[in-house]
Formats: sequence, C-alpha cells, structure tokens
Amino acid sequence: MKIAFPYCLLLLCCFAGFKSQAQTFPSNNDESKVAAYTLPDVLKMPNGKQCANSREWMQVQRPYIFHLYEENQFGRFPSKKINIRYRLLETDKNALGGTATRKQVRIFLHPADSSVYTDLLLYIPNQVKGPVPVFLGYNFSGNHTVSTDNNIILGNRWVPSRARGAVNNRATEASRGADTASWQVSTILVKGFAIATAYYGDLEPDTAAGFMMGIRSSLKDVLNIQPNEWCAMGAWAWGLSLMVDYLQQDNSIDAHKIALLGHSRLGKAALWAGAADPRFALIVSNESGEGGAAISRRWYGETLQIINAHFPHWFAAKYKTYGDNVNALPVDAHMLLSLMAPRPLYVASAVEDTWSDPKGEFLSAKEASKVYALFGKKGIDADSMPALQQQVGGTVRYHIRAGKHAVTLYDWEQYLQFASEQFR
Ligand code: GCU
Repeated sequence: MKIAFPYCLLLLCCFAGFKSQAQTFPSNNDESKVAAYTLPDVLKMPNGKQCANSREWMQVQRPYIFHLYEENQFGRFPSKKINIRYRLLETDKNALGGTATRKQVRIFLHPADSSVYTDLLLYIPNQVKGPVPVFLGYNFSGNHTVSTDNNIILGNRWVPSRARGAVNNRATEASRGADTASWQVSTILVKGFAIATAYYGDLEPDTAAGFMMGIRSSLKDVLNIQPNEWCAMGAWAWGLSLMVDYLQQDNSIDAHKIALLGHSRLGKAALWAGAADPRFALIVSNESGEGGAAISRRWYGETLQIINAHFPHWFAAKYKTYGDNVNALPVDAHMLLSLMAPRPLYVASAVEDTWSDPKGEFLSAKEASKVYALFGKKGIDADSMPALQQQVGGTVRYHIRAGKHAVTLYDWEQYLQFASEQFR
C-alpha cells in the first residue's frame, strides 16, 4: 500500500513518541500523593456567566463544551450525513435454543466501495412482543467472541495478536466465544432487551497505523475530513452513530430505547458517541478511565501523558500538547459526562482497576450531576464513594464493585435494572 507523505510523518511521530516516552512517565497509586487541583467550571459560559437553566445549557453551554472536546481531545465529529446501505446476511428465528432471533446485518459505509462495511450482530428476545429496547456496544475482537453460537460469522478483519485464537492477526475457529463473560447474552435477553454488537476494528484497526486501513482513510473524501482532523476514538464513535441509523429502521427494535455501553477504551468511544448523538437514550461507561470518565487532573492511575504515549492514534493531535500540562486542558472528564445530560448515565468502576482511577470516575460523575440538576434530575449527591456493590445516584448512577477491570454479570445486572427503570 502506498502511504502518502504527511501520513508517513504522522506515523513516524507516533512511533517515535511510543518508543521514547512510553515507559518513562510516572504514574501514582497512592491517594495521599494526589495533589490539589481545580476543575474547569462546567457551568461557566463563554461570556463568564453561570449557566442557570436547561435552555441555556442546550443552546449555549452544551454546544460550547462539545466544541471544546472537538478542538482539544477528539477532533471533528463528521457532520455530513451519509447514506448507508444494509444487507441482511443471515437470520434465524430460532437462535440460542429458540430464545432469540439472530440477525447479522452488513452495514455498507461507502457509496461505491463495498469493502468498507461493519457487520452488526443482533439477538432479539423471542419472549417479548413488539419492538424491544436494545443494548448496543462494540466488542473487542469480533462478533464471534460474544457467544458460543457457531452460526456467528467468523470475522476476517485484523485483530490484535493477543486475541484468543488469533493467527497472523486473524480470528480462527478457536476464537469463538472468547469473550462470553463480558456479554451476558442470556441474562440480557431474559430481561427483554435485544443486544446489538459490532467489532470496533471494522471501523479502524486499533494500532498506530490502523487509520490507513480504516474509515478515516477510506471515507475521507466522502466525509470531507482528513485522517488527522479526527482520531481513532472519533472513528469508533461515529460508527456507533451509523448503527443507530440502522436500528432506527429495524422494526423489531424500539429506537427510542437505545442504550449504549462501552468498556474501557470502548467506554471512551461510547462517551464521545453519546456526546455527539442524542439518539443514544442511555449511556453506560464501564471503567472507561483516562480520556473517558476519570478526572485527568487527578494524578492517579493512567495519565494523559501515558495514554498519548501508548496509544498515539486514540486522540487528536492537540490532546498530546497537554501531556505535561494537564491543567491547561480546557475540559475535564466531568464535562464529557455532562454532555450526556439529561439522559440516564451509568458510570461504573472496579476496586482493583486502579489504572482507571475509580475515585476519579466517581468524582466526575458527581460533578456532572450539576448539569442534571438544571433539568430537575437527581444525579449523585453522596459526598464520598459508596461501599462496594452499592449503587448510588438517580439519573446519574455509580457503583464500584469488587474485582478487576472487566464487564461482569454483576455489572450487567445493574445496567439492566437501571435501563428497565429509566425506560419505564
Ligand atoms: C489500556 C489503556 C486504557 C484502556 C484499556 C482498555 O489499559 O491504558 O486507557 O482503557 O487499555 O481498553 O482495556
């Protein structure tokens, strides 16, 4: 493949950054060493006045903060609407022992090039009549990993070599069902929710050079946006939005009840998608950490400097300029969370996942609650973090559970209960 000159430079910078810096930046796991910091005021409008009500929020402050995120962290979110095409690749009304209808839908993203697509896997519960609410989320290594169902089409895209069963960066039969623990399919279906999932690497492979094989290159003329004007997180977030376009015309789905869930890096992408697209009716950040729900100004766990060094492609170029001066960043995670308001938002942490800074996630959810208050919605008023396995909050909800960085059955049970309550 021919690589255009500016991209060579971009790549060189990425790799140089990775090599020289990745190991050297300090990180901290000692709460007593977290220095005092001042968060940007989420309600301070560009004219210096305090945002006082939901109308000012929607008309002035929200667009202002969204724009700050485009400028400083994620780059442009494509505004151009594209006409996607769908093809139902396969369906079975008797999937998973008759409990669900399975659909595998190819979503073509390019008007002419049919190699640019993402495959959406859906399971729709059979026991419920009429359109159902859905949990939409990316998976980490292919649709075939979320269930042991042998009928799921085995992905043929690039996958990281650490993915189970991967040979030469491609999935094999041994990859099937590798991530069933993160996708509690039967529990979700029993609660009356559909599941919709796609592999995030369909949009852009998660490597520094991935943009050359992903939609930031293949759609640059269609979307009128150059690869370096946005970032991998942006591409993943935008892909989620296109899945909503599909879900809106699938009459087995209640398109007013689309819950978006993302774990870890995919939680960061989910928050950006939730910020950009109001059609996500509920957003779940599962341990999204640095660049997602965790306060960047807190020196704890992963830092902005470290994330940029390890994952130079995740965020826009400007974000890297704050590595050694995080206090100059005009936004912080509470502002990203505030862009979900007034929609239900669930932020979750795990106690052993210190890398994601659980306390930083709690504090940003609490701070974002100020914006929910403008809408008369209860957020988090607790002053300190709850005990393990205790939900706190109202429309903004938080828990920290025992255990490691993962999406567990416990997490799903809370999200399903929350969504059932909020969608009532
Ligand atoms: C790394 C990275 C995190 C990210 C995580 C994941 O640990 O530093 O920012 O959330 O990977 O996506 O699993």
